[in-house]
Amino acid sequence: MVEVRLRVNGADASLDLPPQVSLLDALRERLGLTGTKKGCDQGACGACTVLADGERINSCLALAVQYAGREITTIEGIAGDGPGHPLQAAFVRNDGLQCGYCTSGQICSAIGMLAEHGAGMPSAVTEHLCADGAELTDDEIRERMSGNLCRCGAYNGIVDAIREFAA
Ligand code: FES
Repeated sequence: MVEVRLRVNGADASLDLPPQVSLLDALRERLGLTGTKKGCDQGACGACTVLADGERINSCLALAVQYAGREITTIEGIAGDGPGHPLQAAFVRNDGLQCGYCTSGQICSAIGMLAEHGAGMPSAVTEHLCADGAELTDDEIRERMSGNLCRCGAYNGIVDAIREFAA
């Protein structure tokens, strides 16, 4: 066992964990943050996406011990205590989900993706530009969200939701 001090959604948590425990399992099984989903557990589906210091990561591939001291944000932190994040509302309006299993990962990934390109929050949006200065087109959104799979095939709605949120 090792003591791992995590910071998740603005709160500190000290856990005694075997060193091989993934961040995903620590979040779900030790902290009860079950909004983060386990799909493939192999880094292939994106269901487990969370933010680490604002960057999207597959938490199934991350050891919890590696992320001690980093600011981890899960879908619970994104949603907050109120009516939820505006991107969540955009997903609902645009049918960006069906069964919903991938949705928390999609939303975490989209927020990380938009932040990578300077369009993380509506207040920060001036131009929807990619790092190379190109417009964040639907094709760009699809490419940059390609690590997040949706078995229901709600991709059109997902792109619509992200485009609407970033507008
Ligand atoms: Fe982590 Fe699929 S559960 S990428």
